[in-house]
Parts: sequence; structure tokens; C-alpha cells
Amino acid sequence: MIRFENVSVQYDKSEPVLKDLSFHIQKGEKVGLIGANGAGKTTLMNALLGLLPHEGTIEVEGIEVEKQNLPEIRKRLGFVFQNSDNQMFMPTVYEDMSFAPLNYGHSKEQVDRMIDDVLEQLELSELKYRHNHRISGGEKRMAAIATILVMRPHVILMDEPTASLDPYNRRKVIDVMRSFDRTMLVTSHDLDMIVDTCQRVILLSRGRIVADGKTDVILHDKALLEANRMELPFRWSGNRE
Ligand SMILES: Nc1ncnc2c1ncn2[C@@H]1O[C@H](COP(=O)(O)OP(=O)(O)O)[C@@H](O)[C@H]1O
Ligand SMILES: [Mg+2]
Repeated sequence: MIRFENVSVQYDKSEPVLKDLSFHIQKGEKVGLIGANGAGKTTLMNALLGLLPHEGTIEVEGIEVEKQNLPEIRKRLGFVFQNSDNQMFMPTVYEDMSFAPLNYGHSKEQVDRMIDDVLEQLELSELKYRHNHRISGGEKRMAAIATILVMRPHVILMDEPTASLDPYNRRKVIDVMRSFDRTMLVTSHDLDMIVDTCQRVILLSRGRIVADGKTDVILHDKALLEANRMELPFRWSGNRE
């Protein structure tokens, strides 16, 4: 589904930010991409979306990420930005949700049905005609996720989806992520969310993969996490409220 083969990315003449990364993600896998600030998580997402030049090979469903294939690639990838303001730019939630599917040639009736289905599934129907500048940050994040789901992408990419959400909305986002039946790659510092949503974790440090395996194993490894400026998920930390 997603293939990275000896991928390196360099922003300028200095040291590469991603260094010779190789991994595969199978169809339906949900993978957490973790690592300290500056490890290269967002850079990896951007390279996968074809927003940055890279060395080596990146493929999505057998299609190589390179300039002439980008329309095909982006049809397959739904990306939830860290900052929903970068994603929701139309006056209302409905207009944002209908923008891309109308562009892909679906009829208005089809699009309306697709939107209603997704909003119902997320229990967000009341947001449909709300103004983007009059909904809260958490609602906007939920609306951004809904906007991606309408397109039915094969792969969902999320950069820090629970950052700055209150506990109620965080829980709602986690429930939605758990209900996805798609391939998913998600970055986060919220390791408890990763435990709830991902079976596999890839740990990046300074642009290299230092661990790739079962969430249960990697996120129980206190020494490994601390060596990489992270802490055990709260539920496994021995803390009790
Ligand atoms: N546009 C850019 N130009 C130059 N360096 C960048 C740029 N974006 C990110 N970097 C550098 O690349 C490294 C990885 O950044 P990033 O991928 O954003 O990390 P993360 O998302 O894991 O916090 C950092 O050292 C950062 O300073
Ligand atoms: Mg980042």
C-alpha cells in the first residue's frame, strides 16, 4: 500500500532530515509515527504527499510519488493537517466538504448524500451549515476529518490529530480513528491515543527509524522511549490518579 525504499530528504545543503528510510505499510494497517520534535515526522508526511523532493522510491498502491503522478497519488491520500485552519478555508463546513467531490465530477445530489452520510456517522450533522470561523477548534478538527472522509481516500494521513483538543473531542477523534477501515498513518506525541488506535509504531529519531514494530512492545519500552525524549503512555507509566 505504502512503500518507502531508501528515502532521503534534504531541505538545503545541510544534513538530510530523513536518512535512508525503508518501510512498507500493508493495506488496512494503522501505524503511529512517533518521535521527538524535529525528528522528521511532518517531513515524512509531506514527502509522501509529493510536497517535497526526495531521493529513493516512495510508492502508494504501486504508483510512484513523482510529479506526473501527483493527481493519482492525492486521490488516494486524505491528509488531516495539524492546523485545521490550513484545511477549512470556505465560509461553511458544507462548502468545504463539497468542494473536492464536486471538483472530481460528482453530481450535487451525490455529493449531498455523501456529506450527510459522513456527518451522520460522526454525529456532526448540526455542523453542516455552520460558519468555519464560528466553530471551536475541536469542532473544526472534526469538520476537517469529515471533509477528508467524504472523499473516501484509501489512505488517511493525520498529523497530530489530537493536539489541543479537549478530552471530549480527543475521545471523539479517537473513536472515529478506531472505526476507520482504511490504511492510516498518524503522527502524535499523544502516545495513549496511539495505543488506542494503532497496532504498529514507527519511531523516528533525527531522521532515522530506530524502532518499527508492535505498539504493545515499543510503547512498553521505557528505556527506548526515554532515550528518544519520550515517556511511557500514561496508562503504562505506573501512575494512578
Ligand atoms: N521548510 C524547512 N526548511 C528547512 N528545514 C526544515 C523545514 N521544515 C522542517 N525542517 C527541519 O527538519 C527537521 C524535521 O522537522 P519536522 O519534519 O517538522 O519534524 P517533526 O514533525 O518530527 O517535529 C527539523 O530539524 C526542522 O528544523
Ligand atoms: Mg511535525
